[in-house]
Amino acid sequence: MVHPTDWSRVADPARRVGRTVEFHDEIGSTNDRARLALREPGGDGLAVVADLQTAGRGRRGRTWESPSGLNLTVSVGLRPLLQPSRAGLLGIAAAVATRDACAALTPGVALGIRWPNDVVTGGGEKVAGLLVETAVEDGRLVEAVIGIGINVNWRRDQMPAEIAARATSLADVCGRELDRTALLRVLLDGLDAELAALERGGSPVERFRAVSALDGRRVAVELGDELLEGIAAGIAEDGALLLDTAAGRLALTIGEVVAVRDADPVEVRA
Ligand code: BTN
Repeated sequence: MVHPTDWSRVADPARRVGRTVEFHDEIGSTNDRARLALREPGGDGLAVVADLQTAGRGRRGRTWESPSGLNLTVSVGLRPLLQPSRAGLLGIAAAVATRDACAALTPGVALGIRWPNDVVTGGGEKVAGLLVETAVEDGRLVEAVIGIGINVNWRRDQMPAEIAARATSLADVCGRELDRTALLRVLLDGLDAELAALERGGSPVERFRAVSALDGRRVAVELGDELLEGIAAGIAEDGALLLDTAAGRLALTIGEVVAVRDADPVEVRA
């Protein structure tokens, strides 16, 4: 069964992130609503949740598909006290909080992060994706919207084939349906803690490295029209993906990992 949902009970005045939770049965994109709300009193930290998005966005112009009432689609609008040079760490911190929340509700299931911010199973199937949109004015980071989509109770056998080919859901990996409000509560607690640490000058990179799904793997990264191939060699202090290519080591701050496989075995001579 799908658990009954009372989203307002997830709000917590002790948190900045998710002090208030706004729920919509249907909306265009929760990211757009969270951005608009930043112009209203109480907009900083507001969590906008929707059962259905009619114009859900993914990274790089993709759409984000999610059937009504099964998954978690949430955005948080923020006016972060961060140097623009550290803005990239917001996505890293949010990915860590999202992965940890998913892991907390699925004990015993191996979940990692595929740079920059997909939460994936040990087999590389995606269970969550993040879209972080920031605005810089006069050299200041004036706003950030962190949008998170988690496949919670959307069974893989109900997904369109092209999505099921590379994604799964938390219900599928743990074999039972999950309470979406319990997941949101853990997620907002984690996001709140990550944001506070970031604003204090801390870094989420060590926590990201501990669950990075790519280290030592051969990957292909799409960067605009270019396809870069190499071995993932870790995550830099600013959150960039280190990629060892034939032309040397690159540090990528943008891009999308489109293929992952084990590195070629080292040839052993008799
Ligand atoms: C991706 O993996 O490409 C990012 C997906 C982000 C989807 C979430 S769902 C909530 C928020 N609202 C949107 O329109 N997109 C994000």
